[in-house]
Amino acid sequence: MKKAVIWASLPNACMITIKDKTFVPFLEPAELEKRIIELARSLDADYEGKNPLFIVVLKGAFLFAAELFKHLGSACEVTFVRLSSYQSLESSGKVKQIIGLEESVQGRHVVIVEDIVDTGLTMAQLTAQLSQKGAASVEIATLLHKPDALRENVSIRYLGFTIENRFVVGFGLDYEEQGRNLPGVYVLEGVTKPQSSKATK
Ligand code: IMP
Ligand code: MG
Repeated sequence: MKKAVIWASLPNACMITIKDKTFVPFLEPAELEKRIIELARSLDADYEGKNPLFIVVLKGAFLFAAELFKHLGSACEVTFVRLSSYQSLESSGKVKQIIGLEESVQGRHVVIVEDIVDTGLTMAQLTAQLSQKGAASVEIATLLHKPDALRENVSIRYLGFTIENRFVVGFGLDYEEQGRNLPGVYVLEGVTKPQSSKATK
């Protein structure tokens, strides 16, 4: 039988270095899972009978999405798109077009699954584009949000954790394409613990 191990005993739970940066543990896997289960329950309650279309924004949201969908009970459809506005440690402000959306969103209840809302430019543009394509409703489910970095008026209905305006990696998020595979979230040194955010509904 496989024995459960605790976060602090894992080798990668310690301080890690990716290229020129050092990161420290911030959100452990158990904490992430607990909060994601709560988000799944809210989504189940809100979308029962609506056959929502979940649009997962790659690459960063892949682990959040995987954990979320394991706990969703109601009928839904899932698709994946690419779009990236981020280069290295700072948002470039340039948002690309949606790549890979083959499904029609006309009349559909859409939920965007995102890793993190930083300036909000990506989500503002994506929600606007999906509404233009005729979606019946568009909501955002994001694991993380940095309110202090927000530059666009973005309404987040399903929010995992509010964090300080500091760079994070792990659980899907990268620093120059590395760190996505870490089972927890790590932050650049010198930051306090985040607060769990309740869904805004
Ligand atoms: P926004 O358009 O500025 O909100 O940028 C959102 C995107 O930037 C996210 O989907 C992430 O891919 C990326 N991003 C923002 N903050 C971080 C971070 O702290 N670490 C890694 N990627 C980030
Ligand atoms: Mg992203």
